[in-house]
Amino acid sequence: MSTLVVLGTQWGDEGKGKVVHYLAEQADYIVRYQGGNNAGHTLIYENKPFVLHLIPSGILFPKKICIITNGVVVDPKALKEEIDVLKKKKIPIDGRFFVSERAHVILPYHKLIDGMLESDTTQTKIGTTKKGIGPCYTDKVRRVGIRVIDYIDKEVFLELLDQNLKEKENMLKRVCDIKKLKAEILKDHAVLSKFLKKYVADTSVMIADAIAKKKKVLFESAQGTMLDLDYGTYPFVTSSNPTSGGASTGVGMGPSNVDAVLGVVKAYTTRVGEGPFPTELFDKTGEFLREKGQEFGATTGRPRRCGWFDAVVLRHSVRVNGIKHLILTKLDCLEGLDKIKVCVAYKYKGKILKDFPASRIVQRDCKPVYEEMPGLNGIVRGVTKFEKLPANAKKYIKRLEQLVGAKIDLISLGRKREETIPASKNVKLF
Ligand code: IMO
Ligand code: MG
Repeated sequence: MSTLVVLGTQWGDEGKGKVVHYLAEQADYIVRYQGGNNAGHTLIYENKPFVLHLIPSGILFPKKICIITNGVVVDPKALKEEIDVLKKKKIPIDGRFFVSERAHVILPYHKLIDGMLESDTTQTKIGTTKKGIGPCYTDKVRRVGIRVIDYIDKEVFLELLDQNLKEKENMLKRVCDIKKLKAEILKDHAVLSKFLKKYVADTSVMIADAIAKKKKVLFESAQGTMLDLDYGTYPFVTSSNPTSGGASTGVGMGPSNVDAVLGVVKAYTTRVGEGPFPTELFDKTGEFLREKGQEFGATTGRPRRCGWFDAVVLRHSVRVNGIKHLILTKLDCLEGLDKIKVCVAYKYKGKILKDFPASRIVQRDCKPVYEEMPGLNGIVRGVTKFEKLPANAKKYIKRLEQLVGAKIDLISLGRKREETIPASKNVKLF
């Protein structure tokens, strides 16, 4: 196989940063296909936690090519900050990092609007990251957005900026002085457009060439399936398609170019922000998982809501994404629990639901039907072979596979790249 989509199967924060960092060594190209700097991908680099928001973690391997494609929304200021941090670490960037000319640009007014909508009590509060993601995608769909190619052409940019400030005037004047805002945007533009220019490329063509040359290309999502605009817990979702179909439109390639889809799944469930979460725990076990898993947002620092593994969510994810392979992460965080529960179905008004419901009311009010299993009964951290895992850990993994209908090929037992074991000898994803 030479191309692989790696995506989140739950509500984000499944450990995609670490997984991509683990797989990137075998890849030639690492490509981010949607989302923006709402993502927070934590991995261990030089023995310390390191967070990336926009750039794929493949950048930490000096020879890999890293690409941000058209499906992504790019905040040029945030991108520059991220690149500056990497450059300080002496990581080479130029010549191996590219941004699609068709990606849309996040501007300061998107962030202002995101903040205003979130504090507007007449609107549904989503609990966004306030990075301007939703308002930027909204502009894209409304056909008033500014793309990278427009941003780096001063004349085009000035015209589009005026158009946008004018149409958003009524809203923006409630929170800022528009003249000052424009001056700030123009000041940034003078620096940022020059900075961005050297990375701009037709990334669809680049990736087609790479695939034709049989290069290994890894496509990474941000967020997760339950935050997908179409198949997540709408309206408590992000504004893009992290699902595998999003890779096709988000990259500019046909679906036949995707050889396999690897779902990243956490051994329990977490969610940040508002919205339904059927297996959420409000007790000591929830707190235990939050502490043990260090479940605090990498982008906003918010404590993550924690709960048991939800097989209904995973079956939904496996189907929507065409997942055949899974990597189970954070199994080590279940160490120390006497009992583990797995949600196998939902109950709503006396009926058993096996498939994830579309109705926001059913999503909110359904109750999980649990199956109880014994705790792992042993230490999994540090184990280097599947066979050496405690018997209960192996049972848990097998049961999850049965319930969700996909194979768990890899198991992550810690934050470091090396703390990853294959479930059998013949696992080869890439
Ligand atoms: P990674 O890539 C977890 C959530 C926000 C909010 C909703 C909409 O690290 O897994 P947005 O700012 O995107 O408009 O917010 O989506 N959210 C995430 N939750 N992990 C993420 O990314 C997320 N990115 C957005 O908390 O509920
Ligand atoms: Mg995150």
